[in-house]
Parts: sequence; structure tokens; C-alpha cells
Amino acid sequence: MRADPVFTSWQPRHAALWGNAPIRLKHRLHEHELFTNDALARLVERYPREHYSLVQWGSHGASGSWREGELAGLPGEAIIDAIARGRVWINMRNLPDVDPRYAALMNEIFDELEDRMPGFGSFTRKLGLLISSPLSRTLYHLDLPGQSLWQIRGSKRVFVYPAAPPFETPEVIERVALSGVEVNMPYQPWYDEHATVLDIEPGDMLHWPLNAPHRVDNHDCLNVSMTLEYFTEDIRRTHMVTKANAILRTKFGVTPKSRATTGPSFWAKAALQRALRDTKWVRREDRARRAPEFRLDPTRPGCIAEIGGL
Ligand SMILES: [Fe+2]
Repeated sequence: MRADPVFTSWQPRHAALWGNAPIRLKHRLHEHELFTNDALARLVERYPREHYSLVQWGSHGASGSWREGELAGLPGEAIIDAIARGRVWINMRNLPDVDPRYAALMNEIFDELEDRMPGFGSFTRKLGLLISSPLSRTLYHLDLPGQSLWQIRGSKRVFVYPAAPPFETPEVIERVALSGVEVNMPYQPWYDEHATVLDIEPGDMLHWPLNAPHRVDNHDCLNVSMTLEYFTEDIRRTHMVTKANAILRTKFGVTPKSRATTGPSFWAKAALQRALRDTKWVRREDRARRAPEFRLDPTRPGCIAEIGGL
């Protein structure tokens, strides 16, 4: 273990809890040199267009309930100020591909997890950064990879629901696996009575069981949060079975009886989903990029300007 580990509150019990229950751990990334105000400003102002989504929420533009925009070449401080004043968030995807310093940090975190949990063995690692307005919300959804959420600035409330019916069902996970759309899951307000509710602030990290549905409400402050995504061998096998079961259920009218990730049934399903994965049945529709409808206004700090509007 390094002398200055990323996790500062890890106890042996967390290896047993990891993936089996929602857990909150302390980390030190909010004080890391890659997440100072200056580092965040320099990062966001040069972020490649193909790797970010700038979204205005609560609006009803031509594309539906939200609409996408562009940064318009503003200095990083002005971009972050606009997010702090507005109703927008920016999702910076694939951070390790954009800047190798974040790749090194991501690998440091995974190396530490593998030290702390022998056999953890993650691959297909991803790291993203989300800067979001006060009171932004992320709707009820589930994610297919293993996920953790790291708070860097501001605070938010996270609701984590049991990874079991009626909160998530095999049919819903299969639909997400086939369509690639993580939201629009059935949700009832009474689900909240069964949620683990966690308020997180800078220096907190959350991890929850695979496929556990969750939703997030920002408190009334600018938020900077990092997401870490990974597949272990178990998760990869689970994903293959989910896709095969989705094919059996939706294309062949068969109700799958097993979600086993070993044995003859697993290998048959592995072959089925591999054979069909590049066909139009299974291939995820590339989400059509929405044409930008606004950009941050260089002449009015904190404001947005319509593109092609009046
Ligand atoms: Fe999520």
C-alpha cells in the first residue's frame, strides 16, 4: 500500500461490504492537485467537443426535456461560473483519454482497490467528471458497469435502492442492456421509503451493489463529482447473460430461468450473445448527437445564447 493512499477511512470490513451494500468512504481527491479550481478551469476550457455533453435541464427545447449546448471557447473560470449560476451541467467523458495525468490517477485508484481486495481484477476502466448547477437532478436509473461516485466540490443527496424487484427487475436490466438507455425506468415515490439516503460532501465516495437503481439531487450549490466505472470478470459475465436473456425474451419469446454466470447455460448464452451482438437486434443504436441549441454567452457572464434563435 502506498504511504498516501487515496482512501483514508478504509477498514478491512469494506472489502466484505464492497458490492454487497451501499458504502461511503473518505478519500483525498478533493485536495488533489488535479482538482484545484485552477486545474478544473484549465481542463474544462480545452475539453474536446466529442467528449463532453453540455446540457441545460428543466428546459423544453426542440429535442425534448433537455437540450445540448457548446462552450463557445470561454475561459474555464467563466464556464464554471455559468454552471454555478445556471441550470446546466457538463459531463466530461473519457477523462483518461483526454489527459494522461487522470489516467495515472485512475490506475492508482484501481491498483489500491486491487491491493485492498485481492481478486478484484478490474478492467475496462473509465473515469468521468461532472460539473453541475445547484439543484441539478439525476433521475432514477441503473448502470450496467460497476460504479462509484466521488464528491470533489459541493454536496448532494444520493438515493440508492435495493438491487431487487420491484426496484429493478430482470426485464428492466435487459432493456437497458439492449437499448443503452439508462433512464425512463419505472419509478414510484414510495420507493424512497426503501432507499438508502446518503448526503455526500467533498472527500466522500459512494459505491453500491451492481445494477442498484439510484437517483441524485444536488443541494443548492455548484457540484463537481467524479465517476469511476469498471468491469470485473463477474460483471462482464453478468452483462453477457443479461444480453442473452434479453434476446431470448424479446426475440424468441422465452422467459429466461437463469442468470448463472458459470456452467453450460452460461456458455450457451455467451455464444448466443456473441453471435448476435453485431446484428441489428443487439447493436446499440448510436445515440444521435443532438444539434447544439445554445452556447455559453461570451458577452454576458453566466448567461446562455441561443443558436439560430431570435
Ligand atoms: Fe448512475
